[in-house]
Amino acid sequence: MARELSEVGVVGLGTMGAGIAEVLARAGLSVTAVDVSDEAVQRGRGHVETSTGKAVARGRLADAEREEILSRIRFTTSRADLAAAELVVEAVPERMELKGQLFAELDAICPPDTILASNTSSLSVTELAVTTGRPGRVVGMHFFNPAPVMKLVEVVSTVVTEPSVVEDVQALAARLGKVGVTIGDRAGFIANALLFGYLNHAVSMVETGHATREDVDAAMRLGCGLPMGPLALLDLIGLDTAQEILATMYQQSRNRRHAPNPLITQMTTAGLLGRKSGRGFYTYARPHSAEVVPDARTPAPGAVTEGARPADRVVVVAATAGAADALRAALPDGGLDVPVLLAQRVPEGGRGVRWTGEVDELAGADLVLVAGGDEPEGTRELFAAVGEATRPGAVLATTSATPPVVVCAAASGRPADVIGLHLAGRAGASRVVEVVSAVSTGPDAAATGHAFCAALGLPAVSSPDRAGRVVDALLFPHLNDAVRMLEAHYATADDIDAAMELGCGYPVGPFALLDAVGLDVALAVEQELYAESREPGLAPAPLLGHLVTAGHLGRTAGRGFRDHPSR
Ligand code: CAA
Repeated sequence: MARELSEVGVVGLGTMGAGIAEVLARAGLSVTAVDVSDEAVQRGRGHVETSTGKAVARGRLADAEREEILSRIRFTTSRADLAAAELVVEAVPERMELKGQLFAELDAICPPDTILASNTSSLSVTELAVTTGRPGRVVGMHFFNPAPVMKLVEVVSTVVTEPSVVEDVQALAARLGKVGVTIGDRAGFIANALLFGYLNHAVSMVETGHATREDVDAAMRLGCGLPMGPLALLDLIGLDTAQEILATMYQQSRNRRHAPNPLITQMTTAGLLGRKSGRGFYTYARPHSAEVVPDARTPAPGAVTEGARPADRVVVVAATAGAADALRAALPDGGLDVPVLLAQRVPEGGRGVRWTGEVDELAGADLVLVAGGDEPEGTRELFAAVGEATRPGAVLATTSATPPVVVCAAASGRPADVIGLHLAGRAGASRVVEVVSAVSTGPDAAATGHAFCAALGLPAVSSPDRAGRVVDALLFPHLNDAVRMLEAHYATADDIDAAMELGCGYPVGPFALLDAVGLDVALAVEQELYAESREPGLAPAPLLGHLVTAGHLGRTAGRGFRDHPSR
């Protein structure tokens, strides 16, 4: 039977500590909230007042309830005031010496049965536990930012944590309206271990000029339905925190996906810490504000369509009727009333492509959407035929993920006019178009692609002609990391999905998404990404290949990472 805690403490009143104090007080617990200076305490109180004030303004909390919540928190600079606490959560900066010293001090102040919990995101809870004379009563209690909103608490149990302590902390998490997921003491636990490889990857895309910060963020919000793009999320988390988490994880894992990208380190050194300092990847109205203001790197409105040619006459060319139907269905309702030409391959002689439909339509086209399919030879022949049948300057767009745009461009006879228009979208109905430029693509052809998307009301991002472009290039390695976690018996598929859904607001967790996308599709994308980069961290997880071989292809096959009996 779990102990019902009523008297608790929080040490460290930054964003996380203040949020945790608010969550505890909202659940009716009496909270002693401690920080080192009057100034820090005032800042912490300010956080709680602002957050609960917003809740009142939104009609989510009555004024009287807010007063009660605030009255349940005693703010103080004296750690000795924690003498009556049954549980203390620390949320001081992520430095082992600081936390170790604090735990040793709390051990002396608090009664022997007080539970000492750390909100550390990546440091070893075991190391913290042994700084005290009660290692069995030390746990991790890892909340997610913003603590009042995110429903996950990772309960970190070390090899010496007493089972009754885990039970008490799980019961407390439930009382706070959170879902507790118990995990062993490994750097990054579940959510951070998975999240930060992806965030780091997103930073390297910006650093190498693969895509702009706006495009990376839009691609992941609109293409995957994530609540925030990775760079905006890093600004929320704090670049210094991210740097510390990545460095600690890299030290343990030696996985290059965790080696902090130099840009993160440089921004941290320069004090560009994100929302808390008023500037990170984006610039904010003031420190701690969520309001983004334009800065020197914000693209000028309309600049992207400069040089665009109007696409009044659009023709769809598809190797199969299925591809044409799929393309039509994917575009906004009624947005594309255009002729469709079907192409058949002719095995011998001629161009290798025979048209069904009005070939003359091609001559007048401003933009031709070519759904060639994944087979390179057929696509090459199709582009050669389209290149010949259209007028110079007409933009030819491949809508297939493979082969690369440059292959289509080379076959077309006029490479400057060839782009990719790839409808990306992996979770739910959210969609974004990746306007793909190959090395041979002329700037106005890409601008025409953007203008076409804008006319249809489809959000678009610019992408280089690289495997996975932007969305898949970021998403699939992230999913692959989840498979590796499962393969290593690090956590269950259910816990990993819950961690990402509840801790990071994902619409569906990685395994639910893999089952929906298809494990064979995921494997093919990952093989392509690995073949291009040869990055060891991108090599497909062996488990994925084994499941595909075994016919566990996901939802449509009735079986993937989970069973789907009623397909
Ligand atoms: N404090 C309290 N409440 C807040 C809040 C805050 N800082 N920010 C937002 N909220 C509340 C709002 O009041 C609102 O509540 P109601 O619906 O009751 O009115 C609700 O949250 C939604 O807020 P908004 O409509 O303003 O904004 P949104 O819909 O864009 O959601 C978000 C904001 C919740 C932050 C959402 O974008 C999200 O889920 N982002 C992902 C966050 C994430 O991944 N967090 C984990 C980071 S990793 C981590 O924390 C671990 C670590 O160790 C670093």
